[in-house]
Amino acid sequence: MSTLFDPVQVGDMALANRIVMAPLTRSRAAAGNCPGPLAAQYYAQRASAGLIIAEASPISPMAQGYLDTPGIWSDEQVAGWQAVTSAVHAAGGKIVLQLWHVGRISNSSLLPAGAAPVSSTAQPAQAKTFTKAGFTPVSTPRPLGDDEIPALIADYRRAARNARAAGFDGVEIHAANTYLLEQFLRDSINDRSGPYGGSIENRARLVCEVAAAICEEIGAGRVGIRLSPLTTFGGGTALDSNPQALYGYVVAQMARLGLAYVHMIEGETGGAREPEGVSFDYAALRRSFPGAWIVNNGYTQALAEDAVASGRVDLVAFGKAFIANPDLVARLRSGAALNTPNVATFYGGGAEGYTDYPVLAPV
Ligand code: PHB
Repeated sequence: MSTLFDPVQVGDMALANRIVMAPLTRSRAAAGNCPGPLAAQYYAQRASAGLIIAEASPISPMAQGYLDTPGIWSDEQVAGWQAVTSAVHAAGGKIVLQLWHVGRISNSSLLPAGAAPVSSTAQPAQAKTFTKAGFTPVSTPRPLGDDEIPALIADYRRAARNARAAGFDGVEIHAANTYLLEQFLRDSINDRSGPYGGSIENRARLVCEVAAAICEEIGAGRVGIRLSPLTTFGGGTALDSNPQALYGYVVAQMARLGLAYVHMIEGETGGAREPEGVSFDYAALRRSFPGAWIVNNGYTQALAEDAVASGRVDLVAFGKAFIANPDLVARLRSGAALNTPNVATFYGGGAEGYTDYPVLAPV
């Protein structure tokens, strides 16, 4: 029987324990969308996690949807991330980068030359994003042409290559939370015809091509994917008409490519683990995937321990608990009380609520 504190092999990565730091947007990037001056300290403080999944990072200028998120398209950004990965490695940790394209969840004020966001569709999301003007409705998107897809895949490929050059142990493909890849996956959003619309195979074609390109670039043993079959992300986005079939197909394709892990958001992101009126058989998906199975969303220590002990999952990711508890692993191990996260300092600002959460005195 495994515990949260047992080591585990995830693809090419040997991890010290099964406790994962979930990717967390903190909106503290510096000029040029470079990681901010405190990012290395912030992540190194959390290096006792078996794996850190660094915050969602836009793969290109068109991929951004929020103010001050750190990117992975430029040489300056690679240099900035190098300071982060070397600090984490020096503290004995492992860290991958989450590769992000927001698609239509953006505002033109954040995009080059005030461009319209790109998506699978021309339909706008019912969502707001954070810009210089505060929370602002997203802009109406422009559907990508099929002939623009190769350049998009090349952006993902470059981002993965940059992540390795920056010292990351691997990457996580962000295919969750109704951002670009999920805008292609779901029939509630994707209204295209042609090779990237219609059937499940067609709607999944983009994520499969992106994953194949990234695996070719850095090796499948260093690639994971995050999925959220049941999220409406704040209530604005309908589910697919058949999430079980859609995400079953996606996971089987990721198995075929040999990905290191699947990172499954169970239920509504940041909300109900079992949303009313929908059921989903996660175990069926896991049976088709031989790599590591990471889960996330509302896990308490007891729930996480049970999930790992039963063999239902391999690793558990914690989000808000890692914001407030840099030494979360030690606290879970000793049963110590947890610090409470301060929601007011989640996004933007400096050290407060970022690098100043207290740790337990060493015993
Ligand atoms: C956010 O910035 O709030 C955010 C980013 C990525 C996610 C979810 C939320 O997947």
